[in-house]
Amino acid sequence: MSCWNDSLLIGVTVIDDQHRELVGRLDQLLDACNRGVGEQEVGETLKFVVVYIKEHFKDEEELQALHKYPRINEHKKLHAKFVQTAINLLQELKKKNQNMDLADKVRKMLVGWLLTHIRTEDAKVGKHINNAKANGNVTGINVVTQEDIDETPVVVLR
Ligand SMILES: [Fe+2]
Repeated sequence: MSCWNDSLLIGVTVIDDQHRELVGRLDQLLDACNRGVGEQEVGETLKFVVVYIKEHFKDEEELQALHKYPRINEHKKLHAKFVQTAINLLQELKKKNQNMDLADKVRKMLVGWLLTHIRTEDAKVGKHINNAKANGNVTGINVVTQEDIDETPVVVLR
């Protein structure tokens, strides 16, 4: 069962799509933990999650900067802390700490944190971006988001 549900949508398509992808990867990680596939495969899946988290946070922070989100610095700190948590977990796994219940840690420290972060902090970002857009307050030219692409009318050539 996926941890995703549409109450996690923040109203910014490019971010919502990435959140859905990220939650999907965390689902895969939990699944790997629960199937007892061994440290190697769990480690690979966790690495895959960490790489995606970094890319996603970078995109999200760029979008915040573009829309002059006032709490960007605090938000960046939250992201950095979370990346560190995921890396620590990966290191713990490498040390083959037999006593650790990885599935439990992933559920609480990664999935739990992320879902709360999306519902609280990212939801504020979504509101800010949508307000800024409604007021025409977007700086920067030549920055094309997935949402811009989605909204571009299709020109039919005859
Ligand atoms: Fe965020």
